[in-house]
Amino acid sequence: MQRQHIIQFPKKKAHNLRQDEVYFHIQEKGTQRKIRFHDYDKIYQVQGLYEQIFYDRLKCISPGKVTSILQSAINQSEDTFTELRVLDLGAGNGMMGEALKKHGVSRLIGVDIIPEARDAALRDRPGLYDAYYIEDFTKLNDDTGEELASWQCNCMVTVAALGFGDIPPKAFIVAFNLIESKGWVAFNIKETFFDTRDESGFSKMIREIVFSEYMDVYIIERYRHRLSIEGEPLYYFAIAGRKKADIPAEFLESKGIVVA
Ligand SMILES: C[S@@+](CC[C@H](N)C(=O)[O-])C[C@H]1O[C@@H](n2cnc3c(N)ncnc32)[C@H](O)[C@@H]1O
Repeated sequence: MQRQHIIQFPKKKAHNLRQDEVYFHIQEKGTQRKIRFHDYDKIYQVQGLYEQIFYDRLKCISPGKVTSILQSAINQSEDTFTELRVLDLGAGNGMMGEALKKHGVSRLIGVDIIPEARDAALRDRPGLYDAYYIEDFTKLNDDTGEELASWQCNCMVTVAALGFGDIPPKAFIVAFNLIESKGWVAFNIKETFFDTRDESGFSKMIREIVFSEYMDVYIIERYRHRLSIEGEPLYYFAIAGRKKADIPAEFLESKGIVVA
């Protein structure tokens, strides 16, 4: 895979920018283009660019970390990793799917909201996913919901896709409810999302779910997700646990959380 793109981070320090507003320039055929970190459509269209920025340069380790804590959680039970039927929400170009497949899983179903993610996964990792859906889970229709349910997933993962305007609370809950009860759940989240001073809908939802009757937490681990473009460590929590029951439709409203 081509990973030798000519990229440049901005000259000025980017401390004032939110994580999703950070940008870089790419030189292509004598022209320069500015791309923000959250312009996933543009990044995925350039083969190897996502890997070069986030994995080679910024040293992201999250797919491996979330996979390993999921493995450790499952080791505390009678279940086996290789029997997992995984729903990968915010699957992107397949980095998490690849990490899971290294351990061996039974089925891997990808979901993302932009077609460029699926195109890139099929281009760069053909055959990795058993199926890959482009869906907005906040507007999932009954037919697609039934089709997704027919995969009988017993695990849901979501990596580097929660918060910062990515997957909203309602979509997370729809995915959570799609997996079987007693299914496994593993995701990562920026460390400030656990800070009770963070009153955003997403942070509140994660705190409410993680410490609720709907989920048993097996492992929470703080780790360095990646570096910022200034070389500073960005710490996240990796969380793995087991679903206990579906989250009811009125859950978010009952907690005063705005449904996006
Ligand atoms: C930083 S990428 C992470 C991709 C992959 N999980 C990984 O670890 O490399 C975030 C992904 O979440 C997807 N995403 C954002 N909002 C979403 C939503 N509402 N539903 C599904 N996917 C979403 C983006 O399109 C993008 O592919």
